[in-house]
Amino acid sequence: MIPRTIEWIGNLEGCVQLIDQTLLPGRLELVQISDLKSLFEAIRCLKVRGAPAIGIAGAMGLVLALRDAQTQDREEFLKLLDTQADYLACARPTAVNLTWALERLRNVAHRQTGLSVADLKRMLLAEAKAIRDEDAATCRTIGQNGLALIKPGARILTHCNAGSLATAEYGTALAPLYLAHEKGIDFTVYVDETRPLLQGSRLTAWELGRAGIEVTVICDSVAGHLMSLGRIDLVITGADRIAANGDAANKIGTYSLARLARDHGIAFYIAAPASTFDLSIADGSQIPIEQRAAEEVTEGFGRRTAPADVKVYSPAFDVTPAEFITAIITELGVIEPVNAETIARVMR
Ligand code: MRU
Repeated sequence: MIPRTIEWIGNLEGCVQLIDQTLLPGRLELVQISDLKSLFEAIRCLKVRGAPAIGIAGAMGLVLALRDAQTQDREEFLKLLDTQADYLACARPTAVNLTWALERLRNVAHRQTGLSVADLKRMLLAEAKAIRDEDAATCRTIGQNGLALIKPGARILTHCNAGSLATAEYGTALAPLYLAHEKGIDFTVYVDETRPLLQGSRLTAWELGRAGIEVTVICDSVAGHLMSLGRIDLVITGADRIAANGDAANKIGTYSLARLARDHGIAFYIAAPASTFDLSIADGSQIPIEQRAAEEVTEGFGRRTAPADVKVYSPAFDVTPAEFITAIITELGVIEPVNAETIARVMR
């Protein structure tokens, strides 16, 4: 059993407990975080990562930021809430689940006109815990909705980590795989190592392997070769933000995979909860793409692999146009074909 990716321990005086994902697969270590700055840093340095998990972390971080607020004045408290939510939203810009979760807490607090500050604090904690619990249920439903895709003998390719480590439980892209495995369906998974931070080989291979699912790690550049040999039946990934027309941001390299899949006549699926949709933006060109530090590329795991003064370009995500996506699997149903009308219909 893998411990919970992230949870709140205890009551309002408690803390956030999460798996430090930077240590995997070597060490499975839980860290407890009791202050806003450490939580913000945990998101930035990817101790906790993956769009839904970042949303949960943000919500819990906001509770950490507010629980010691001295003021008893409601308006002053709400102002502080807004400031701290804005601060937390900057931790990582691409995954819309972070702003979605912060917005949800903000709305709940602003809507309650009759509550004392003490009651508001308790209510915010309850809401943050609810976001975690709902995410687990949502991911299980995504798994059920995507189960039919996993046929006996299927050879599946995935990228980055959209598994239980990226969510409260089950994952998004990996949820149908876990459910198929529970049902005794035999299949095999090729996992892109996912340069530069290796979420595929470090995290996805680790969690699928622990569940007893057959995994083969490949270098990212092997994916096209495998497709050309006819050894991939479908590709499934998660997403960090999906625009109203279905353009989807996900870990850098996803776009290349989707294009390759199309050229080879292979289905390319995205699995994501409703909280990953950003219907306020018309298309993917408006999705902010996070840039990561050069050192993650040039000395990712302790050893320099490029000249000291070399220029580096390291976007963490890319955008896959809707036309390359066969279907999006959500907890509300499967969106196919992927376009503004089908998305609006399901999201309504
Ligand atoms: O930089 P990361 O590790 O947070 O990137 C994560 C991904 O790209 C995932 O595929 C995405 O968040 C979906 S997680 C269910």
